Amino acid sequence: MKILAIETSCDETSAAVVENGKKVLSSVVASQVEFHKKYGGIVPEVASRKHIEVIAAVVRQALDKAKTPLKKIDAVAATYGPGLVGSLIVGLNYAKALAYAINKPFIPVNHIEGHIYANFLISRLHFPFLCLVVSGGHTQLVLVKGHGKYETLGRTRDDAAGEAFDKVARFLGIGYPGGPIIDKMSKKGNPKAVKFPRAMINDGYDFSFSGLKTAVVNHVKKNGAPKELNDIVASFQQAAVDILVEKTIRAAKDKKVKWIALAGGVSANSRLREDLKNRAEEEGFKVSIPPLDLCTDNAAMIGSVGYYLIKKSKKSNLDIEAASTLRI
Ligand code: KG4
Ligand code: ZN
Repeated sequence: MKILAIETSCDETSAAVVENGKKVLSSVVASQVEFHKKYGGIVPEVASRKHIEVIAAVVRQALDKAKTPLKKIDAVAATYGPGLVGSLIVGLNYAKALAYAINKPFIPVNHIEGHIYANFLISRLHFPFLCLVVSGGHTQLVLVKGHGKYETLGRTRDDAAGEAFDKVARFLGIGYPGGPIIDKMSKKGNPKAVKFPRAMINDGYDFSFSGLKTAVVNHVKKNGAPKELNDIVASFQQAAVDILVEKTIRAAKDKKVKWIALAGGVSANSRLREDLKNRAEEEGFKVSIPPLDLCTDNAAMIGSVGYYLIKKSKKSNLDIEAASTLRI
């Protein structure tokens, strides 16, 4: 079964063709980052307009790369939430119209489920497994008990992990998006230079990142313009990663899972990938860490969820509307 998947929840316009929920025949991602950079963050109106401009070409390219004509597509899937509503409706409506035109089922997909399912494209995971979902909008520890069966063990009480990276970078004036910039700069810095707080590290499964962000701001205000910016960002990054890794390992032990999976844009972070892999393997867990292009927003992960959903029901769901605050 070949699914054409579309993802436009934020600032990437993406389309992919995925076979049987596993094999990525094509994956095209058009990033808008250049248009938002000068504003230091995503401008929702610009994002939706840019999606409209490129969506047809992105879908066409995905079909061409997969050498799959539209008539060979068995179903169309698209993200319907969470995300920016103006961005979501572009991909959602395009996908619905396409499914209707070719008379094939339309499958609405939750973006967070998509991030989790990126792991099925690369690993033979066994249920139950624990997934740390860390993106620009979400930070949560999810116990995945079966296809579509989730128990959220904890989530952030304030900023998402990616949001903290982006806000710290904005405060330091080092560019946008902050995550990849901090990751790169940290390689040249000393992660032990400044001892930033690790909020709630031994306390429950919820996260809190706003205090860490404030600690960076206060440190810079107190000590004046930082001479060694690389040390500050490396110390910030290490604090964020320590919290994420410690809580994940503790939850995996408590829930007695065998597998730990990583998902979402922040899972592209090199220190998080390394530390989680090392700690998890030390403790005897198997780990699934998607390659970088499957960590950040992409439509292939949406195609993976679409397959498991359509196996449950072939019913088309054209009535569904964009749900910007959708949860799992
Ligand atoms: O999953 P994603 O592409 O979009 C959302 O669903 O939010 O995640 C985007 C977030 C941004 O906050 C970005 O700064 C962060 O992922 N990110 C990173 C890295 N690459 C992207 N954070 C830390 N290190 C990275 N290498
Ligand atoms: Zn995302």
